[in-house]
Amino acid sequence: MEAPSFSSFAFCADRPLQEQLQQQLTDWIYTGRLSPGTRLPSSRRLAAELNISRNTVTIVLDQLKSEGFLEGIQGKGVFVAPDLPTDISGPSKVNWGHKGPLPELSEFGVYLNKTPLTEHGKILPFTPGIPDIASFPQKSWLQIQRRHQSRINLMGYDGNQGYGPLREALSEYLKLSRGVRCTPQQIIITQGAQQAISLCAQVLLNEGDSVLVENPGYMGARKAFLARRAKLISCPMGENGIDLDALQKNKNINARQPKLMYVTPTHQYPLGGILPASQRLKLLDWASQQHTWLIEDDYDSEFHYFHKPIAALQGMAEETPVIYMGSFSKTLFPALRLGYLVVPEPLAKVFIKAKSFMGGESPLLTQAVVADFIGEGHFIRHLRKMRLLYQDKWQHLNSLLNNELSEQVRPILQSAGMHLAIEIPNIDDQTLKQLFQQQGFGSSALSSYFNENPTMTGLVLGFANTTEHQREQGVAALKKILDIEDMRSI
Ligand SMILES: Cc1ncc(COP(=O)(O)O)c(C=O)c1O
Repeated sequence: MEAPSFSSFAFCADRPLQEQLQQQLTDWIYTGRLSPGTRLPSSRRLAAELNISRNTVTIVLDQLKSEGFLEGIQGKGVFVAPDLPTDISGPSKVNWGHKGPLPELSEFGVYLNKTPLTEHGKILPFTPGIPDIASFPQKSWLQIQRRHQSRINLMGYDGNQGYGPLREALSEYLKLSRGVRCTPQQIIITQGAQQAISLCAQVLLNEGDSVLVENPGYMGARKAFLARRAKLISCPMGENGIDLDALQKNKNINARQPKLMYVTPTHQYPLGGILPASQRLKLLDWASQQHTWLIEDDYDSEFHYFHKPIAALQGMAEETPVIYMGSFSKTLFPALRLGYLVVPEPLAKVFIKAKSFMGGESPLLTQAVVADFIGEGHFIRHLRKMRLLYQDKWQHLNSLLNNELSEQVRPILQSAGMHLAIEIPNIDDQTLKQLFQQQGFGSSALSSYFNENPTMTGLVLGFANTTEHQREQGVAALKKILDIEDMRSI
């Protein structure tokens, strides 16, 4: 069969000719104007008919041959591949938008589709969770990075557990500074704390298992457990975090035999309570008796200002059911996406295997840079400097709130971390957050940290990434909003 005339092909000036010719030829094949077995004119004739160069035509015909749309037969010419189905619909016919029926999502995909997308968005002064990035020792970091950049052996694969020298440096640091009992063999490097929690959820939970979470608590942890289709139970809370006495007595919770409990005992997130040593020991006891895994998220305990950092729960006794996790998001910077798990030694292999299923290896060059950053003493120096800096910022923000907003606001005074939670009773804190954002400031609504039934409203203000001026401006803006707007009636 001979091809029809190509004189209706049209070309515009703003796209490469090659691309346009290829698209028009494939369109004709898709729509059946060039049916299977049709013989195309020679490249010379086609070029003359379309008034374009023969070279362009040859390149396009060769490309369509290699994709299987055309077939060249020695001595006979170029044909539309005879085995192409006649009812093909090309990409332009497939409705990838809302109109066409797409294959179905999984139940998890459907569930996610119904939940709002919560991205970090623009980082503003007071956005929680952001360290003082401007004070990061860029020079030392870049020096180490340059040193490693050209190392060929950092450009391939290494291992799912994480770079050996980083695990060694980290185990030394965790032993000395956080009281964690660990060897490098127990450490698994992860893509931030989020992957660490997700791995725990995958390895330790079955669908429908009960998981105890702090209420209020960390949304990222709740997400990871919900993704595993676990049932969340809110833990009774007291002044300093979880209320162990209430937990021990709660027959309802104990009868549900929680498989896992997520805790932030050395600095409760987001209210900041420090669980006293006696309570931490009781928690270990309770978990051992209940056969409940404890996931200890030690996300920012480096930053305690008026006493030494509180040692981790994990190191308080031997043979504990604790999985310890940490992240470099606060101690270095969030974009690193590096965190770590310390698991009981018999569990190391299963976690490494799980990581090979979920995300695979962590970036090797970054791990090597962090290893030397720790090993050469920059990490400890940086933490020491940040502790003093954040202490000043915390004190400044606290006194501003006390001086300017003492009537409306109650700072929840836990002298640690990188954020301050403030309680503003009976307000619509989501609206307050939005109004504050319109003035150029970030924050999180306190009510959004609750698993269920918020009992507090207010804001969580990250102060680490603010300047003195921004703190003053921010508190003034908050005062103005609270003075003008009747938040209770919104
Ligand atoms: C309680 C808690 N854990 C862990 C993290 C760190 O998460 P990632 O390492 O995924 O950045 C955060 C960050 O905000 C946090 O608030």
